[in-house]
Parts: sequence; C-alpha cells; structure tokens
Amino acid sequence: MTPEQPCRRVRLGVLISGRGSNMEALAKAAARPDYPAEIVLVLSNKADAAGLVIASDMGIPTLALPHRAYASRSDFDTALDTALRQHGVELIVLAGFMRILTPAFVQSWPGRIINIHPSLLPLYPGLDTHARALAAGDSEAGCTVHLVTEALDDGPALAQARVPVLAGDTPETLAARVLAEEHRIYPEAIARLARSIAAEVTG
Ligand code: GRF
Repeated sequence: MTPEQPCRRVRLGVLISGRGSNMEALAKAAARPDYPAEIVLVLSNKADAAGLVIASDMGIPTLALPHRAYASRSDFDTALDTALRQHGVELIVLAGFMRILTPAFVQSWPGRIINIHPSLLPLYPGLDTHARALAAGDSEAGCTVHLVTEALDDGPALAQARVPVLAGDTPETLAARVLAEEHRIYPEAIARLARSIAAEVTG
C-alpha cells in the first residue's frame, strides 16, 4: 500500500460473551494505521462481560443486549441484526460469543461472519475442547478460524495453528498455549478477509 492509495477500513462488529482477550488482540492490531479493518462496535449478550470494559477503555463503542430480555432466540437475533446494521458493520467477528445464531441470521450475512474455535476442526466442535483433546491422548492441539455457516463450528477454515500437547498439561495450561496462537492468527485472518471484502465492495 502506498500513501496515494489509502486503504479502506472494513467495519467490524465484534460479538463477545466474556473475557474478550481475542477482541483485545484484534483491537490492538486494528490500532495500527495499515490494518485494513476497524472495530466499530463490541456487542455482548452479557452486560457484565469483562471484554466490554476493555473495549470501552480503548475508546471502542460498546453495547450490551442481554439475551434474557428477549422472548425468543429469533427476537434476540433481530435486535442483534438491527444494532449491527445501525453501526454499518460489514463483517461480524465472533470472539467467544456463547450464543448459537439462528439460520435466518446466518443466511442474512453470507460469508460475513467469522469465528475462532479452540480446536483443530473438524476435531472437537462444541465445548471443553482442551479436556477432550487431553482425554483422547492427542499429541497436538490448536485453533481454527472459519467462516460461520448454519452448522455449529463448521464452515470453511481460513486459518489454523497447531501447538504441542506437553506432558503434565491440564486443560488450563493447554488452553493458555492455544490462546496465544488464537491472538496471533485471528487478527491475521480477519485482515485477509477484510482486504478481500474491501476489494469486492470497491470493485
Ligand atoms: C477462545 O478460546 C475462543 O477460541 C473461543 O472462546 C474463547 C474466547 O476467549 N471461541 P476470549 O473471550 O477471546 O478471551
């Protein structure tokens, strides 16, 4: 990129439910002037998510939509969709968002929802991935960035990182080793996707 061709920054909406360490890693990457995307909203289904405070302290707009305030999953997803579109979000980044999205929601954002999962998909979709990898006696573990489809933790993989499983590992020690890789590959994969979205939209 040259100074004559400023890069258009694709607008990201980051969905979280808790700690927000992947969101924080992404926000730090996006603070660099050459990063091809910006976080325009961090939204949580939990009002007490620690990540909302981190985002707010970094000057990023935040919103809590407590899912229990909605009569149905579909009503919640409608509110989610409205908030994201009001903020001009172009790419939805799931970062520890512990709600399953309805098929109607996923279909209305085709190719525009990305997730990170703490396993080497297709191994161990769902919860407790590190405990399951240890119970299986796996010699390596890792994380996968993928596009979101209607099936849980499915969809085309965009990036993967591997780490060794070490003698004496617990789910916690293994999770910490994998998390360091998540913080590295998620901002990289989002940058690649953002560049292709920017190219698509601007032609
Ligand atoms: C990460 O391990 C991510 O892979 C999974 O949920 C966790 C979220 O952690 N989807 P954080 O909130 O980003 O710290």
